[in-house]
Formats: sequence, C-alpha cells, structure tokens
Amino acid sequence: MKPKVLIGVTGGIAAYKTADIVSQLVKAHVDVRVVMTEAATRFIAPLTFAALSQQKVLTTTFPDNSSGEKDVIYPHLYPATEADAFVVAPATADSLAKLAHGFGDDIVCCSALSLKPDCKRIFCPAMNVQMWEQSIVRENSRKLLEMGWHQIGPEKGWLACGTHGYGRMSSPSAIVQIILHSIF
Ligand SMILES: Cc1cc2nc3c(=O)[nH]c(=O)nc-3n(C[C@H](O)[C@H](O)[C@H](O)COP(=O)(O)O)c2cc1C
Repeated sequence: MKPKVLIGVTGGIAAYKTADIVSQLVKAHVDVRVVMTEAATRFIAPLTFAALSQQKVLTTTFPDNSSGEKDVIYPHLYPATEADAFVVAPATADSLAKLAHGFGDDIVCCSALSLKPDCKRIFCPAMNVQMWEQSIVRENSRKLLEMGWHQIGPEKGWLACGTHGYGRMSSPSAIVQIILHSIF
C-alpha cells in the first residue's frame, strides 16, 4: 500500500512551491492529499493541487454536501486520521501559532488535531525575516519542536517581499527528500 502524506498549505507566497512538492511526491508513488487554509487559496488555486494529486482538495472544516458518507461529512478527520506524515508547507506565522496552541478553526490546524500519534509531523516556515525573528514566532516554533514536530528551514536568501535574510521556504526537493526519508 502507498504511504499517505497529507500536505497542509497555508497563506504565504511560497505556496506556489508546494505544487512542486506535491508533484514530486506523486512521482515517488506517495498517496498525497492536500488541505488548504482560506488564505492559501488566495495564493494558489485548489485546482492546481487537485490536478497534481488527482484527489479532492479540502479548504474548509465543513462538508460541501450532506451525503452522509464519513469521508465527506468529516473533513476534519479524513484524510487526517489516516496520514503517515503531515507536512505544513509553507507554514505561516499565523499557522505556527495555531498549531502550537491546538487551534481547530481551519482545515489545516484542525487536521493536525486528528493525526495518529505516530504520524510524522513536519513544518516548513516561510515568511519575511522580521516576522521570522519575532520572539513569539520563534517561541511557537520551539513549542512545536518540543511536541515532536520536525522543522525544515527556513533558509537564508532573497525574500519575495524584497528583503534578504532567513525566511525562504526550503527547496521543494530538499523537503521531499526529508518527507520520503520519514515514510519509507
Ligand atoms: C502578499 C502577501 C504575502 C504574504 N506572505 C506571507 C508569508 O510568506 N508568510 C506569512 O507568515 N504570512 C504571509 N502573509 C500573511 C498571511 O497571509 C496572513 O497572516 C494570513 O492570515 C495567514 O493565514 P493562514 O495561516 O490561515 O493561511 C502574506 C500576506 C500577503 C498579503
């Protein structure tokens, strides 16, 4: 059976790079599902991820119909409860705060609340250098690490907002390599 990876996309510029992550994982014979915050859908269309993964993309914690089938009626549980790895990429400052504090008010952070205990949890921060250097953002990242999450990046370099420093999301290939290592 293919390993299952759930990708949580949150609302940062680097969301376009996550399409490449999904594409590479699919090529590596991984069963990939994608959940997106409302903000993420402002940066990249759910259709892109649906086309790459050939799976339905979830953008809300509420079902889009009342069919009664469990995987339709409980978006906050399926596919999250079945994932072997959960990867938040890009992880915004906002999503780090929510994940670190157990919020459940969007489909990405709510999925995180439904993961199996042995599911690998990975976050890939991406933001402006001054955001990344805020003590509250670092504190939230530290909290996630203490809870067993793995952090990938951010890297130092040119940032989309026109500044330079730490804040770039790691390259899709580097992230994919670590994901594959964690599930195979
Ligand atoms: C053009 C633009 C780019 C943004 N890029 C980032 C980013 O790279 N990282 C980040 O943490 N927030 C970024 N933000 C702010 C987030 O989109 C905002 O905090 C949003 O509420 C995050 O929602 P989410 O965490 O639910 O996806 C950006 C906002 C705009 C308008």
